[in-house]
Order: sequence, then structure tokens, then C-alpha cells
Amino acid sequence: MSLESVPEAALTGSLRDYRSPIGSDLVGRTAPFYQWQNLRRQHSVWPYARSTATAPTARCQARTDSGSPFTGINFASQDYLSLSSHPEIKQAAIEAIQTYGVHSAGSAALLGNTANSIALENDLSDFVDGREIVLYPTGWAAGFGAVQGFVRPNDYVVLDVLAHSCLQEGARAATQNIHHHGHLNLEGLTRKLERIRANDTENGILVVTESLFSMHSDTPDIGAMRAICDQYKATLLVDCAHDLGSIGDDGRGHLGLQNMFGAADIIIGSFSKTFASNGGFIAVKDRATAEYLRYYSATHTFSNALSPVQAATISKALQIVRSDEGRTLRRKLMDNILYLRARMQEAGLEVLGDPSPIVPVRVGTEALGRFASRELAAKGGIANLVEYPAVPQGGARFRFQVMAAHSREDIEEVVRVLEQAMKSADLEYRASYESV
Ligand SMILES: Cc1ncc(COP(=O)(O)O)c(C=O)c1O
Repeated sequence: MSLESVPEAALTGSLRDYRSPIGSDLVGRTAPFYQWQNLRRQHSVWPYARSTATAPTARCQARTDSGSPFTGINFASQDYLSLSSHPEIKQAAIEAIQTYGVHSAGSAALLGNTANSIALENDLSDFVDGREIVLYPTGWAAGFGAVQGFVRPNDYVVLDVLAHSCLQEGARAATQNIHHHGHLNLEGLTRKLERIRANDTENGILVVTESLFSMHSDTPDIGAMRAICDQYKATLLVDCAHDLGSIGDDGRGHLGLQNMFGAADIIIGSFSKTFASNGGFIAVKDRATAEYLRYYSATHTFSNALSPVQAATISKALQIVRSDEGRTLRRKLMDNILYLRARMQEAGLEVLGDPSPIVPVRVGTEALGRFASRELAAKGGIANLVEYPAVPQGGARFRFQVMAAHSREDIEEVVRVLEQAMKSADLEYRASYESV
């Protein structure tokens, strides 16, 4: 394809442009999004909604959202400990199907729990210092349900500006009193709380953060946040979706590394990364709080419970996470993370954040990112492109997600193809913009 033929409209614009369409025809007014998306698709600069045609292993086969097959070294799956194809986990899922069938067939508030989901609650509780566990159908549902379940219209939510969509949407559903502080900026957090408390000492304040931010791979000082929350009588929520199970010698993530499990009033997590399944949880400090959530957080009460297959899969994954095998896998994962980051840096690429299974690599403008993503896939590398508005404008990046099963060769090869892809993208970008 002649690279100059990519129209500017396919290299500019963002999802944000189509978020608030105008007009009385609710359905018809969505069409401009498809036109823009399709233009990008036609020029192979729409790298989203791809599907795997094999398990999400280190080398995998996949398809674009138009159905074109491609293969490559896979750094786009969040199977951090490579448990998705673990024989014992597959066996646990098969046994669950044989015993319970495949369906929970109800909300956990009615008859949707199974022996497997009850066992999972107990096992997970043991892993997180005996906290009470409430299960959710997805991590997103847990994050949303945690904020919506506790916060009422007169309360306040103060979020790190980069907190995940589930937490932001939960806040929007609960109250109009929403404040953001700069990413990891604890002075900003303090200023917000000070201002709120200067006018309102009656209502609640929920402070929301993540123990590992999923686009930036960085971590707050949770002890310092606890102290600030105490000063202003605020409640602290920590989302540990990405680091629980994958980080720390014992797999207890940054809350464990910082010895801060007791500091968070509310912990939410996901089973869709390290735990080889779908689902999420909220961990709170006592039974009374958990029981309240079971009937007042909508995504638990009014959504079907985890299936018995999911619960059995997650329990077995958790058992492995806590075992010597899990420890070995985490060490292998961290070796891979450090190796990938070092090789990227040697290649002159800018790696962001701290070592974690998420390795963000800066690309630059959205146009450059789109070219680089097309080139990377063509050369046999698979990594997710993250663009505005998920990250700041002009801050497009690849999010490499590392797995324990990656080999040194996988890492060396993906860095090599990324280097080539970035060079080609740069030429395409210049050609494209110089010809405008
Ligand atoms: C920080 C964070 N919280 C929550 C979620 C939602 O988890 P799930 O994929 O299980 O719905 C994600 C996943 O994208 C996440 O990155």
C-alpha cells in the first residue's frame, strides 16, 4: 500500500470526538463513528477488537476485526503467570462442568452461588488477611459496585485522574460531587480534601486509587494516602486488578510489598489478569460491610453470579499463585519484565513507569502510533496501542504485557521488530505529513 495514501482523517481524531453525538435520533447519530473507524480499518490503522485464534500464549495466531489472520509474538494478553493453559486449571474447569454444568443460573443474592464460589470466597479471604470477600461477575463490576455501593449523592469521591473507567463510572452513578487530583499527586489530594472538609464535615469522602496503574505502570504511596485519609476522615479504596497475584514474592502485589493490606478500607480486584478467568471481588474488613454490599451494590445484587466453572478456575489459579510454582512463575515473570525493559532501553526506546507486567513504551502522536501499530503487526509483533483519550493527547504508547512463559528469544525478537516498526512508522509519518 502506498503510505501517502492514508488520509489525514484516519490519522487524526479520537474516540472522544464521538462520545457526545447530537440530534434526536439516538441510534442514527452514532453513524459518524463508524465512518471514521472504518476509514481507519480500510488503511489498517484500527488495531482494536482483534481476536485470538489460539490460546493467549507467547506465540499466537489471531485475527483483525475484519477477520484477516495474522501470527506473532504476543505481548497483548494479560495472562501474566501464563496460567490460561495450565493443565491443572483446565482439569479443575472440566471437573466443575461435570459436577455443576456451566451456569450459575442466578444472582448471588438469590440462588446463584455454588459450592465453588463459596470455596473461592474462603480461599481468597485467606490470601488477603482474612478480609470478607464479595464476588462480582467482572472486575469492572466490582470497581463500579464498590463506589456506587457506598457513595450517596451528598458524599464526595476524590479520584486519581487516571483511575480506571469502572471507578470513574461508579462515581458518576453515585454523586455529582466528584473531584480529581493529578496522577499520584498527594499534595493535590490533600488540597482537595482540605477544601471539601472546610465546607462539609458531615458527609463521606471516598478516595480512590490503584495499586498499579494500568497505562502508566506506577504505584502510589499507600501509607501516605492512608495518613491523609485519616486526617480528613476519608475512606480509602485501592484497586489491585493488575498486581495481585503477579507482583511480590508472595504474590500479594503492592499492598503486600508496602505492608498496607490493613490500610485500605476497600480493596477491589479482578480475576481477568493473573487468575486465568473473568470475575472480580471486593474485600472489606468485616462481615457487616460485606453484607451491605451484597444487597446495595447493583452489579452484585442484580447480575448473575460467577459461573461454577469460573469459580473453580479462579480457585485453582489462586492455589497455584500461592504455591512454590507460583513463586517461581513470578520470578520468571519479573526476569522477563526487567529483560524487556532493558532491551527496549538499549534500543533507544522510551520505557515508562516501574517494573511490572505492564511495560508502556512511548510512541508519540496518535498518527505515529497508528503507523507504528500497523508496522508492528505486519512484522510479527503483537502489542496493544493505547491512544488518547485513554492516555494524554500526543502520548500514544504501546502497552506490552509480559507473561511468565515468554522466552528470552521472544523478548529479543519483539524488541527487534518494534525497533524496525518505529523506524518505518517514522518514515511513513514524515512522508504522509510532508505530502499534506
Ligand atoms: C485497574 C483496573 N480495574 C478494573 C479492571 C476491570 O477488570 P475486568 O477486566 O475484570 O472487568 C481493569 C481491567 O481492565 C483494570 O485495569
